[in-house]
Amino acid sequence: MKIVPGTPALVTGASSGIGREVALSLGRRHCRVALVARRREALEEVAEGVADAGGEPLVAPADVADEGALAESVGRTVEAFGGLRLVVANAGLGRYALVEAQAPQMAEQLIRVNYLGTVATVRHALPHLLAATPSHAVAVASSAGLISHRMSSAYSASKAAVIQYLAGLRLEVLDRGVGVTWVCPGPVDTPYFDQSNLDPDRDLPLLARRLVRRLQPDEVARALVRAVERNRPEVTLPAMMRFFVWTRRMTPRLADWMIRRFP
Ligand SMILES: NC(=O)c1ccc[n+]([C@@H]2O[C@H](COP(=O)([O-])OP(=O)(O)OC[C@H]3O[C@@H](n4cnc5c(N)ncnc54)[C@H](OP(=O)(O)O)[C@@H]3O)[C@@H](O)[C@H]2O)c1
Repeated sequence: MKIVPGTPALVTGASSGIGREVALSLGRRHCRVALVARRREALEEVAEGVADAGGEPLVAPADVADEGALAESVGRTVEAFGGLRLVVANAGLGRYALVEAQAPQMAEQLIRVNYLGTVATVRHALPHLLAATPSHAVAVASSAGLISHRMSSAYSASKAAVIQYLAGLRLEVLDRGVGVTWVCPGPVDTPYFDQSNLDPDRDLPLLARRLVRRLQPDEVARALVRAVERNRPEVTLPAMMRFFVWTRRMTPRLADWMIRRFP
């Protein structure tokens, strides 16, 4: 769908990183943008940026793992904007550990926030998207949802679940005017790694460290907006990450060998 001035949108995880950049870029297109995350103060700062850029922000804090709070944020958005035509389910966190060292709560938390938070966001937005076509649902997944590495098993599983959920949804709603996109970035320079107990310069496989450049969050935001306007199903970036994902799909044994040979 074309993102025109006044488009009513909702972005989760809008207080930081990729979500913040998506919200600002929608602001620059004069959209109405509901900002969802847990930290109200950080959302208010982003709201100022959206307003300065020419958009109309709405601060609608919620924990995406709290279905009631999320439903309230979506409801407030629809009431304030008169509908919803774009939802970006971006809120998420990273937790990494070897399987033997994982506390049981780790996988649970990743599934609760990354996967079930996305499911709840999309499910609450969908009736409004269907009522205001052409419209679009996006999730920020991860290249880790397409290709795992050491320590990423639980995180990768949560993002693979997001990808498959969106892939199923796309087939259900595409002919009814709702586009669906999942964005799969490699490492992005955001506060994400500060809390995720993964040091990308030490823990990622050697070839990824050497050959995959670190993205900036505004690049991911631009790719996301472009994908919405072109109704692309999957976006993986940067280009080198697409090569690794392709290798994994075509020759999984070669991909295993490469990662084990160059850990
Ligand atoms: N950075 C990377 O290398 C990378 C790579 C691939 C994919 N991703 C994905 O990109 C998305 C955004 O990450 P980022 O890099 O922009 O990290 P970030 O700067 O840490 O931002 C994460 C955002 O998610 C929000 N959030 C976390 N838990 C939440 C919850 N329970 N309820 C509501 N909001 C919540 C945070 O806001 P509050 O703390 O205010 O709630 C924040 O706005 C995530 O889904 C992440 O998995 C990141």
